[in-house]
Amino acid sequence: NWKLTNYIEKTVAEIKERVGDNKVILGLSGGVDSSVAAVLIHKAIGDQLTCIFVDTGLLRKNEDVKVMENYGEHFHMNIKLVDASERFLSKLAGVDDPEQKRKIIGNEFIHVFDEESHKIEGAKFLAQGTIYPDVIESQSVNGPSAVIKSHHNVGGLPEDMEFELLEPLRELFKDEVRKVGEELGIPHHLVYRHPFPGPGLGIRILGAVDAEKVRILQEADDIFIEELYKNDLYEKVSQAFVVLLPVKSVGVMGDERTYEYTAVVRSANTIDFMTATWSRLPYEFLDTVSSRIINEVRGINRVAYDISSKPPATIEWE
Ligand code: XMP
Repeated sequence: NWKLTNYIEKTVAEIKERVGDNKVILGLSGGVDSSVAAVLIHKAIGDQLTCIFVDTGLLRKNEDVKVMENYGEHFHMNIKLVDASERFLSKLAGVDDPEQKRKIIGNEFIHVFDEESHKIEGAKFLAQGTIYPDVIESQSVNGPSAVIKSHHNVGGLPEDMEFELLEPLRELFKDEVRKVGEELGIPHHLVYRHPFPGPGLGIRILGAVDAEKVRILQEADDIFIEELYKNDLYEKVSQAFVVLLPVKSVGVMGDERTYEYTAVVRSANTIDFMTATWSRLPYEFLDTVSSRIINEVRGINRVAYDISSKPPATIEWE
């Protein structure tokens, strides 16, 4: 595809020209946009780029290992993995209000990122995976998702940061970002990942968050996602995940009575994430997912399927 190759060559040349022999830092989240931006910038300036990957303790199962493998080892990028899980979990202890949780996670992220970025000596540029729809959204005063996403995406970092911004994907739509990613050699399944919210599992564990609930949710979510891939359904839905309710119910396992948490399986189909319908996943598939979660995840004895559309429900539960 000559148009893509041209775009990549042109952008790589522009990045080289602008950065010169300075250093660049980038907050790598493992999501599509920051990953494509990272690989593109790395292609231009190699080791002058340092990625900072913050493990908030609220990420999906093995996300840290996967990011280090996919981008650190495979692309030989400089990635600084920061394990900040204890910091996040201790700040969140006992907090059950959704907006409060979002604020805590957003602020803590800024603190950790700020600290880490100052450890990288002489960094002049801050790179971000901002894409065209983010630019538009951040300009609209009344877009609710602009407010929602502000913690982690556009404008999510302190204004007084002394870096110059480098945003090579600013003019691209999502599908173009994916094409650029594949052209750069990022595996298909990574370039077609569903979106994952900045506050992560922090807003998918309803009520107060703790390490044990994170473990339970990671296990359950991993099973659901694995089954979606296995059954060729992952790319047929727009976003899919598990939510953990702090509600216990009675069940029976063998001869034993159980009293454990409830998991909700959520899957949405949408074009723009402003409105969405629940995915009509096959009953047989849902049965497999439910059985596996209940049998394999200690702490969950009941699974429900969310059949709410947006509006009036939202895609996330908090
Ligand atoms: P809702 O739940 O509002 O979600 O229907 C719409 C889309 O936005 C994502 N989302 C977020 N993304 N930071 C993000 O980066 C956030 O705080 C946040 N909250 C919701 C959600 O996952 C869905 O894709």
